[in-house]
Order: sequence, then C-alpha cells, then structure tokens
Amino acid sequence: MDSKPAPIYVDNAATSFPKPREVIDTISSLLGGMSLSPGRSAHRYSLECSRIIFEARETLASFFNCPDSSRIAFACNVTEALNAGILGLFGTALHPGDHVITTPFEHNSVMRPLRYLEKNAGLTLSILPLSDEGEVMVSELPRLMRDNTRLIVVNHVSNVTGSVVDLEEIGRLKGECLLMVDAAQSAGVFSIDVKKMHIDMLAFTGHKSLFGPTGSGGFYLREGLALQPLKMGGTGSNSETEVQPDFMPDIYEAGTPNTLGIAGLGSGVEFIVKTGLAAIRGHEQRLCALFLDGLRQLKNVTVFGPGAGRQRAAVVSLRVKGKSESEVAFRLDREFGVMVRAGLHCAPAAHRAIGTFPAGTVRFSFGYFNTEKDVATCLRGLDMIAAR
Ligand SMILES: Cc1ncc(COP(=O)(O)O)c(C=O)c1O
Repeated sequence: MDSKPAPIYVDNAATSFPKPREVIDTISSLLGGMSLSPGRSAHRYSLECSRIIFEARETLASFFNCPDSSRIAFACNVTEALNAGILGLFGTALHPGDHVITTPFEHNSVMRPLRYLEKNAGLTLSILPLSDEGEVMVSELPRLMRDNTRLIVVNHVSNVTGSVVDLEEIGRLKGECLLMVDAAQSAGVFSIDVKKMHIDMLAFTGHKSLFGPTGSGGFYLREGLALQPLKMGGTGSNSETEVQPDFMPDIYEAGTPNTLGIAGLGSGVEFIVKTGLAAIRGHEQRLCALFLDGLRQLKNVTVFGPGAGRQRAAVVSLRVKGKSESEVAFRLDREFGVMVRAGLHCAPAAHRAIGTFPAGTVRFSFGYFNTEKDVATCLRGLDMIAAR
C-alpha cells in the first residue's frame, strides 16, 4: 500500500496550484480545437485567436483599471516584463547619471537589471529602509529623492515576508518620478488601480495569483511613456517595413504570442472577477491569521515579517531552531505531504534586510484553494519537526 501522505501545496508564491477548472478547460479546448497563431493570417482560426487575445487584453485592462487595453502588452512572465521596463526605459526616460530608488524587498528580476545598469550605464541607486516591523518605509521617500531621481521601482508584496507596500502613498509622494510596480505577488489578491495609484508601469505574471499557466504575464504602460523594445521581429502588422512598429502593443510583442497562455490568463482573471477579489483576499487572510496564531504556540520556530495585526499577504517565512531550511522543507514534504519552498526565494537583498542571509527561510504561501485543514497539517508537521 502507498503510505505517502496526501499532497498539500503551500508554495503558491512560486506558482499557484491548482488552477481553476475554467482555466484548464479554456487551455485544453483551444489546444485541441484550433491553430494558435493570431494576427498573421486571414483564416478563421487566426481571426478567432486574435479575438481571444483581444478579449484577454480587455479583461486585464479592466482588472487594473487601465483605460485603454492597447496599453497592456503580453510577455512570458513578470521577469520579462520588468526587464522590458527597466532596460527599455534606458534611452527613453532614463539616462546615464540618473538616480533610481527601490526597496530591499526586490526580487532579482528587478535587482539584477538595476544593478546591471548601475555597473554598466552610470545609474545610481538608493534603497528605502525597513521599519522595526520589517516594512518598507515609504515615508523616507522624500529624504532619498534627488533632483535627478527619475524612477521608483517597488515590489508591491514581498515574496519573502508577505509585507505590503503602500502604493497609494508612493503615488502621492513620487512627484515627477516614474513609478514601476512589480505586482508578481499582489495581482489577483490585492486591488490594483493604475490610475488611482499613479502607476506608470505595472508588471504582472500570469501563473501566480492570476491563476494563468506558466509562460504568461505582461505589463501596463502609461500613455505617453515609451520603452526601447527588447525584442524586434514579426508582429503581423506593418509587414511591409523592416522597422519595428512604433505603436502599442505590437512594438513590445514581437514573435508569435503564447496564445494558450494568454487565453488561460484571461480565464484566470475572469475567475477572480467572478469569485470576487475581496472573497479571495478574505480567505487567504483567514488562513494566514490561523497559521500565524498556531505558530505562536510552537516552540523553536521564529517567524519573520509583519505580525497578524498588520497588512500582509499569506506568505510566511520562518526558521526552525537547530534545523536547516532544506531539511525542514524536505521533511515537511516527505512526512506530511506539505510542499513549501526553502532558501533565498530569488530575493537575496530581502534576506539580507531581515537577517536571514545566506541560508534563507522556509516559506509557506497559502492560496485560494487551501483549506483550514491544510493549515492544521502544516502546523502539526512543523510542531513535530521542531520538537524532534
Ligand atoms: C516579487 C516577485 N517578482 C518577480 C518574480 C519572478 O516571477 P516570474 O518567474 O514569473 O517571472 C517573482 C516570482 O517568484 C516574485 O515573487
């Protein structure tokens, strides 16, 4: 008899699982139902694909309160979107000698392109400090801003501690600076309104809380702002010229798009709209509070990041005294079926800031499809591992 414990997936910050039924149905019916190359041919399959992509673009635009869906460009994930933004602004709105402000909670998909420009293109970088509660001190923004500050890049929700940055306050304080937001962990759980928050560029990934498949994502770019495109090639438009089109979204979407991924992402966002963002957030918040409550009773467990009373996402980082992070993760999976992620979560600066570098933490990230029973199993597993 198989004695493996039932799987409990609490690694939703890496990618969400399971996906809603609607997303699976959309993808499988499309894959079996038609060719998937939009905007290139005049036959019915190609036209139908164009319509599907247009609808997904409209769904995302409305979800982020973006007034014009052509300001949404699809990419293969938030890493590609952030690179398109950070590297692409260089030469349009960013120039050698300019100053950029960011946070210690940035993922390497922000830090690496920024550090690259700092080293190779004369950009200077300042990092906002953290408060005693481990939250980004947005109030310090005016102190860090200089005459040549052109860009502020922030991770909305930390993928290490679950702490949340107040985007509206940044929007109020930023003055003429551009605001670029990494919404990898927040889109689909927290309300994001690009107009109200004065966001100039919003980068999102499809496969986390937006419930799409891997390989999907994109960005919103405010009207009037342009990027140097990272890729050039076929767009199905302006094919008579050897020059990349200069209009959105085509300028940033060279190559046959990921029609399946985009359709799945559109379905994921429709699922969120139907379910209600507040219901999703409320459920995740309840699970997180339950987990944090239970953790307080456990011996030998240290939790990092904001407490239950603070605004936070359902991402919890912890350490077990005397055990390595990889051992805890391995035993949770093998003995209790609990799948978590151990290590640095591609955010070394965040771990330096909270004092957990270089070993990192064990990260639990709950999603909409987790249950209270899952939380109880996580706590039981941790308790047993920490006690032994
Ligand atoms: C805050 C943050 N930014 C960026 C990324 C990169 O996401 P992707 O691999 O989908 O590009 C992640 C994923 O872990 C993340 O949590």
